[in-house]
Amino acid sequence: MKKIFIALIALMLVSPLKADEGMWLPVLIKERINDMRAKGFKLKAEDVYSVNKACLKDAVVLFGSGCTGELVSNDGLLFTNHHCGYSQIQRHSSVEHDYLKDGFWAMSRDQELPNKGLTVSFLEYMQDVTDDVLKGYSEGMTEKQRDSVIRVNSHALVAEAVKEGKGLRANVEALYYGNQYFLFVFRTFRDVRLVGAPPSSIGKFGGDTDNWMWPRHTGDFSIFRIYADKDNNPADYSEDNVPYHPKKFFKISTKGVKEGDFTFVYGCPGSTKEYVTSDEVEYTGSVSDPRKIALRTQRLDIMKKYMGQSQAVRIQYSSKAASVSNAWKKWQGEEKGIRRMKTVAQKKAYQERFKEWARGTRYEGLVERLESLYARRNPYYLAYEYYNETVRSIELLQIASGVLGVLKNKAAKDAAVEAFFKDYYQPIDEEIFTAMLKAFDSQMPDEFKPEYFKEKLKAYGSVEKWQKDLYSKSMFTDKQKVLSLTKDDTELVKKDPAYELYEAFYNWYFNTLRPVINDVNGQIRLAYRDYMKGQMEFEPQKQFYPDANLTLRIAYGNIKGYSPSDGVYYKPVSTLKGIIEKDNPDIFDYNIPQALRDIYAEGGHEDQPVCFIATNHTTGGNSGSPVINADGNLIGINFDRVWEGTMSDIVYDPSVCRNISLDIRYLLFNIEHIGHASYLFDEMVFAD
Ligand code: ARG
Ligand code: ASP
Repeated sequence: MKKIFIALIALMLVSPLKADEGMWLPVLIKERINDMRAKGFKLKAEDVYSVNKACLKDAVVLFGSGCTGELVSNDGLLFTNHHCGYSQIQRHSSVEHDYLKDGFWAMSRDQELPNKGLTVSFLEYMQDVTDDVLKGYSEGMTEKQRDSVIRVNSHALVAEAVKEGKGLRANVEALYYGNQYFLFVFRTFRDVRLVGAPPSSIGKFGGDTDNWMWPRHTGDFSIFRIYADKDNNPADYSEDNVPYHPKKFFKISTKGVKEGDFTFVYGCPGSTKEYVTSDEVEYTGSVSDPRKIALRTQRLDIMKKYMGQSQAVRIQYSSKAASVSNAWKKWQGEEKGIRRMKTVAQKKAYQERFKEWARGTRYEGLVERLESLYARRNPYYLAYEYYNETVRSIELLQIASGVLGVLKNKAAKDAAVEAFFKDYYQPIDEEIFTAMLKAFDSQMPDEFKPEYFKEKLKAYGSVEKWQKDLYSKSMFTDKQKVLSLTKDDTELVKKDPAYELYEAFYNWYFNTLRPVINDVNGQIRLAYRDYMKGQMEFEPQKQFYPDANLTLRIAYGNIKGYSPSDGVYYKPVSTLKGIIEKDNPDIFDYNIPQALRDIYAEGGHEDQPVCFIATNHTTGGNSGSPVINADGNLIGINFDRVWEGTMSDIVYDPSVCRNISLDIRYLLFNIEHIGHASYLFDEMVFAD
């Protein structure tokens, strides 16, 4: 009787998925298609995902190792973000040809630029292989035995899946913390060439100032082309390769978008943690995020001070500052969002209900167990995060350890040294050394400081004195000395004070922190396997989606503005007019190319759409993803989220979680007016 009563209560308390939340597996499209169609989508399930016929999934790729891209022509033409192609564009740039600054446009196919190491992967198919993966496993086996069963079975599945060769690769991924296993089979292409990129003043317009923000006016795109051998199979770069003919490519919609329109993002979200307990959220929102934000604020202030004094330093540190700043800004939004949503309290209340329900079941005690695991892990994990954010951010230690790693290979060593010193400005590194070690000293409890650190500090009396001495004695401040090192100089490097410091901290991490973290994390993962399963049983009618893990997902929603704060409402579409309003030659992030000013001055382009926001649930890795309309045509390229909604990796709030996309018509505008490369339109197919 009591059980039934509790079950009824649980039923009543079940939270339905909030509108538009969710990153769904394409293979399960049949479970979503009715909802998608109810929201305006006009295609059928097999148009989205099918293994029997060409469908939209065949026009989507994993670009490099952490972005998404989409095919837009029968000749392998591909769109992704500018920030996804950034390192390729940078690698082709030199003082004479600064493609980052000026943009790059191949005017014919023979001008397209090859990119060593860059790959794109098409998903051939995905398949639930839970039973095969667990074959031979029985209750009562240890976790170690279970892992080895999984390893052996996965290996066999992968070998079978790729036996045809031809660029196939496969992996087995755990979903729902190992309650389910899926096989993903990809075809990977290795000859991917750069076709076009706007100048950074368009592709990165707004820079870190506008990053994670709306209203946004960034032309965040770059264009590549996939090449294949003459049989249309993947091949290493060769002059004989020909453009790849995909099974499917997107038609480009020129119809335009408006509030309320259906939007569908098809891409590869990297990582989320939607089903964790209040302890994990509290650690993230109240400990980890604020501490890391404070440390990065110090580092960014130091970089910015010197970048403001010299153009040369600004160029050296712009990419470094951008990457430090990206997570720094995201964490601020995330921390605020978690607080505003009262996620810790919400999760606590949920856990109480879960505990009540779990009484007498195999899930009893699980929440408490997670609680005690977190209590044990957190101090170690925080020390690890401090190690990462402080000591490991010192560039001199990075080059010292990097050089030792490649000492035996002179060419590799010299290349690493050249690359390092090209972008090294010692005064920044010295100040960061002092600031970060002081922070480590004052903010870490004594039992979480390496002995070496304590001894050195005692001997020197202050971090400042230590810093002065180390930078005057280390050979790693002197490029010529590092270049002259030979393969026999291992001992010399190991005696260097920069290397010594690096090594002391590394050993401390390796011997003191890592074993505990790995052990407890293993237990936490295990507990989550049960907790996840328990949550699914606790809320049987809730539709769960697996946390993101860089596998292909579907997120759908609609174009929609939002209110970031009291009295303010943001419209969902931005235009060229807004770029001109922000334009300011004195502010680096807002200094647009003269060509753009001239075009605007001609008149008639005020309403040129630039970006739009929608309610699709996305995360890092979704950058470059196609944004598709109700007819299945391409309307945009996803590239960011709004700041107020960045806690969506943990908790989704339909009122403020918005993804930001480039309006595809702004890409077309750039091809025509900035790149003067309209010949590219000939291979695209337009729909209205
Ligand atoms: N916030 C976006 C993402 O996480 C864009 C990052 C690149 N842009 C920048 N200004 N740092 O990838
Ligand atoms: N900017 C992110 C990316 O590069 C997308 C996001 O976090 O929303 O994938």
